[in-house]
Amino acid sequence: MTDTSKTPPPSKTLRSRAWFDNPENPDMTALYLERYLNYGLTRKELQSDKPIIGIAQTGSDLSPCNRHHLVLAERVREGIREAGGIAMEFPVHPIQETGKRPTAGLDRNLAYLGLVESLYGYPLDGVVLTIGCDKTTPACLMAAATVDIPAIALSVGPMLNGWHRGERTGSGTIIWKARQMMAAGEIDYDGFIELVASSAPSVGYCNTMGTATTMNSLAEALGMSLPGSAAIPAPYRERAQVAYETGLRIVEMVREDLKPSDILTKEAFHNAIVVNSAIGGSTNAPIHLTALARHAHVDVPLKDWQTEGLHVPLLVNLQPAGAYLGEDYFHAGGVPAVVSELMKQGLIRENALTVTGKSIGDNCRDAEIVLPDVIKTFDAPMKTDAGFVVFTGNLFNSAIMKLSVISPEFRERYLSNPDDLNAFEGPAVVFDGPEDYHHRIDDESLGITEQTLLFMRGAGPIGYPGAAEVVNMRPPSYLIKKGVSALACIGDGRQSGTSGSPSILNASPEAAAGGNIALLKTGDRVRIDMNTGRADILISDEELAERRKTFEAAGGYKYPASQTPWQEMQRAVVGQLETGAVLEPAVKYHRIVDR
Ligand code: FES
Ligand code: MG
Repeated sequence: MTDTSKTPPPSKTLRSRAWFDNPENPDMTALYLERYLNYGLTRKELQSDKPIIGIAQTGSDLSPCNRHHLVLAERVREGIREAGGIAMEFPVHPIQETGKRPTAGLDRNLAYLGLVESLYGYPLDGVVLTIGCDKTTPACLMAAATVDIPAIALSVGPMLNGWHRGERTGSGTIIWKARQMMAAGEIDYDGFIELVASSAPSVGYCNTMGTATTMNSLAEALGMSLPGSAAIPAPYRERAQVAYETGLRIVEMVREDLKPSDILTKEAFHNAIVVNSAIGGSTNAPIHLTALARHAHVDVPLKDWQTEGLHVPLLVNLQPAGAYLGEDYFHAGGVPAVVSELMKQGLIRENALTVTGKSIGDNCRDAEIVLPDVIKTFDAPMKTDAGFVVFTGNLFNSAIMKLSVISPEFRERYLSNPDDLNAFEGPAVVFDGPEDYHHRIDDESLGITEQTLLFMRGAGPIGYPGAAEVVNMRPPSYLIKKGVSALACIGDGRQSGTSGSPSILNASPEAAAGGNIALLKTGDRVRIDMNTGRADILISDEELAERRKTFEAAGGYKYPASQTPWQEMQRAVVGQLETGAVLEPAVKYHRIVDR
């Protein structure tokens, strides 16, 4: 067999040699080697200094968003082989955002753990991370940061645009519209399903600016995937082409010893925060990037989201904040066009290194906005101040709000003082978990009005293991029929990135961890001040202390029992949303490969 490698041999001994070519330990070498020969690899291949490249496969029949990676992996393999490496594909614990009960929020950390074990324990010199559906991206990047072998992310790409009766229907986002239409009696069950299914016309992940498009865009902004690759729709030829190029590149990265720790710097995270504002990224992004930063041992506190990101304008006109979908984003120029526009304002740390071996500045400087209605210029943005406000107060230590989804109608309705558009107060109606909300939201005796603040608690990482995406509650149907499309929602859970709900979410600490949100009662007045970033229950400190005493005497916040072993194990060690909801004991493991 001929050696097709055209690139020079690696600058340092390959990690995989310890398994496959270690004359000092013939017993183990023989043992490791023989089983990898049994499907046709030759001894010469495995002992010829060819990097062994893992393809961490997140696609499967259980994970339709990422399933197309099963096809793309063939092109990745061809790239790896052509560059002189050997591909070894292996499964990652499946995560399907829309398919997993009770929530896929449970699975990010489990996939992370499993992937750390695979990357650490097997003879891999580098890895291609097949990212896509919401939490597959952070799970893979977090594991790569912990292990710190050369790693490159390959997005599966968004679905084609959805269409229904001549209008774009965006995945996820259409659900929030359809449930209002059904509550208003405009469509029935069949009409509901038909409308929702129209938004998912092909392989790929959500075509909206939900958590998936957000996280794939941020993986690119962080420098962890090839420039321009995030936005390519899954079925397009360019998607398979970039899969091949990703395979080529990871072999070079092993030879260059270019690792996640070289790329995932503070500058890279700040770039990602800025890009997140400009694309109208998901409220799940702070959770996942915080988790990634912690596993990368880079200090990126939640407050950086406000200081770095709040005043960045929204440039990308994608649903839910805008009108367009994934194919449009790609044709408009994708992430490089956004980065290039931000660079002109000096908002990007241009020297941050990327998987290309070049800086993000060099990668994106010449990129252009091709469709100016889809990606706006900095001077004529969709909205100004599109980032997150980080709230604090007597309700919680921290929570975030995405300003870019607040409508003028909403501001007017909640306005208590015409001189101050950014502060409002109203009576709270409190729900304990999503089931409670579903049972009672249409109960007229709750007295919900258009100035009510809806609260959801018991939905954090411990209370609803994994933290449910349930904070975006719809108004009761009697208000929807009157034209009220959204109420202020506040909660200790998460919210789908495809939702445009004006919510204050990710409140930490959650009720189940004893946060003050557990002390709130229906009927309490709550004041939200976007000027100062305060969210307070309007009761005295004495009253609050009294409630806490009663709460603790009663044994704290009651939440449902664990249904699976993993729910119980994760609940015991998971942190809060403000610190990434990571498995806390895992954080100390960093760069664990003994190189
Ligand atoms: Fe998988 Fe939206 S459900 S990307
Ligand atoms: Mg989601």
